[in-house]
Amino acid sequence: MKSHLEIILLSTILLINVQLSSSNERKFPKNFVFGSSSSAYQIEGGWNEDGRGLSIWDVYTHENPNRIADRSNGDIAADSYHKFDEDLKAIKELGLEYYRFSISWPRVMPFGNNSLINEKGIEYYNSIINKLLNANVTPMITMYHFDLPEELNKIEGFLNPSIIEYFKNYSDLLFDKFGDRVKHWVTFNEAFFVCRHGYGTAEFPPTISDSGISDYKCIDNLLKSHAVTYKLYKEKYFKKYDSNGKVGIALNARFFFSETNDTELVNRGLEFELGILAQPIFGQNGGYPEIVLKTIAENDKKEGLEFPRLKQFDSTWLNLIKGSADFLGFQYYSSRMILPISSELTGISFEKDANYNITGNPKWKPGITSQWYSVPEGLELILKWISKKYGDIEIMITENGWADKGELEDDSRVEFLRDHMESILNAIESGVRVTGYLPWSLIDNFEWNAGYTQKFGLYGVDFSDPNRKRTQKKSARYFKEVIKTRKLINQGSTKNISFTFILTVLIIILGIMATR
Ligand code: NOJ
Repeated sequence: MKSHLEIILLSTILLINVQLSSSNERKFPKNFVFGSSSSAYQIEGGWNEDGRGLSIWDVYTHENPNRIADRSNGDIAADSYHKFDEDLKAIKELGLEYYRFSISWPRVMPFGNNSLINEKGIEYYNSIINKLLNANVTPMITMYHFDLPEELNKIEGFLNPSIIEYFKNYSDLLFDKFGDRVKHWVTFNEAFFVCRHGYGTAEFPPTISDSGISDYKCIDNLLKSHAVTYKLYKEKYFKKYDSNGKVGIALNARFFFSETNDTELVNRGLEFELGILAQPIFGQNGGYPEIVLKTIAENDKKEGLEFPRLKQFDSTWLNLIKGSADFLGFQYYSSRMILPISSELTGISFEKDANYNITGNPKWKPGITSQWYSVPEGLELILKWISKKYGDIEIMITENGWADKGELEDDSRVEFLRDHMESILNAIESGVRVTGYLPWSLIDNFEWNAGYTQKFGLYGVDFSDPNRKRTQKKSARYFKEVIKTRKLINQGSTKNISFTFILTVLIIILGIMATR
C-alpha cells in the first residue's frame, strides 16, 4: 500500500517537474531587441524606374544570366519598390521592434556621385522611414549591401582609393536626408564577402579574379571608407540631431571546429576571415592581426614581390579606424571543420596565405546545399571568441537565417531560429553583450547567384504572381510568439505541456485505483 502511494507521489512530482521545466522557457534581457533584415537589390525591383542608376548587380545579371542558378535577376524581385506597404503589414504582424533595410546607392545617386541626386529615390526611402516610425518600428539603414553603382565600378570600385571620398559623400547625403529620424546605421554589409568574392574569387560582381592581391586592397579601402564615414557622423551629425545615433559595420563569419583540437589553426582561420576586418576597428590596439600580416609578408618574400600586398596602416589611419564603430553587426549562418592544408599551394593567393582546408561535418544538420549546415553551437562559440578578443563591445545579430525551397510549413526554419536564439542566450549568460536579433529575412527574395532557388523569408513571396503575394510562414508565427513573450519558446512546447498534464492526471487516477 505504502509503496503504491510512494510511486504515485514520486511519479507525480517527476512529471510536474518535466512540465514546469518545459514551460519555464528562457527569457531575453529587457533591452534586447527583435527585428528582421532585408536588402535593396534583393527585394526592391524597380530597377530602371524613377531615375535609378545601374548597379553592378544589374549589369552582372543582365550580361551573365548563366551565372544565376535559375537565370533570374532582381529587376522585379519582391517588388518592394511598389509594395512596401505589404512588407510593413508583415513587420507589424510580427511585432518587430527594428527593421533593417538597405539603400540602393544608385537609386539616390544614379552615377554614384554628387553630380546627380535622385529626389524620387530620396522620397522612396523617406516614405519607408516615416511609415516605420509611425508604426513604432526603429529603422536601421545599411548603406552598402553589395550594389555598387556601375559608374564607380568603371573606375575600379573598391580598388580605387577614391572610393573613400565617394562613400563619404554618399553617406553624407544619407545622414543629411534621413539622420534626423534614423539613429542606427550600418556602413557595409559583410565586408569580407564584398572583397573576397567580388575581388578575389570572382564569384560575385565585379568578378575580379585576383585572390591575394585585389581582395586585400578592397579590404584596406573599405575599412578606410568606413572610418571616414564614422568620423563624419560623429563630427557633423551626432550633435546636430541628437547623441543617440549609432554607426556600426556588419561583419560575417563562420566558426571553425577542429577535430584534433588545433586551437592555433582555428584561431588562424578566424583571424583571416574575421579578424582582418574586426581587429582594425574593434581591437584594443587596432590594426591588422599580426598572424595575417606576418604570413602575407613571408609569402611576399618567397615570391620576390617588391611591394607588400597588405601592410599595416600608418598611424593616422590606424587611429582613425580604431574604435570607429558603436556596435558590431554580426552575421552568422553556418560553420565549418578546419584542417591543415593537405598539399602546399603555389603562387599568390588568399588561400595560400590563409593556408587551411575546410569541410563540412556529417553530424551537422544539412541545409539545402552544403553551404548551409545548421551549427548553432558555432554561433555561441564565435560570439565568445569575439568578446574575448575585443572586450565588452555591443553586438547585434544583424543576420542569421535558414535556406529552403520556400515551404510555408517551414519547421526546419523554426528549429534553426530557436536553436540559434538559444546560442545567443547562452552567450549573453556568459557575459557577451548581444543586444538584438534581426534574422534574415523578412520576405523571400533574390538570393544572389542562387536566384530564387533558395528562400530565407519569414514570409513567402509568390514570384510567379505579378502581385508578388506575401504569405505568412510557420516561422513567422513562431518568431511573433517569441517577440510577444520575449521567451525562447520550444517548438511544439504547448503540445508537450498538455501531453504531460494528461499523463500526470492519468497516473494519479491509476495510482488511486491501485491503492484501493
Ligand atoms: C548574407 C547577405 O547579407 C544576404 O544578402 C544574403 O541573402 C544572406 N547572407 C544569405 O546568403
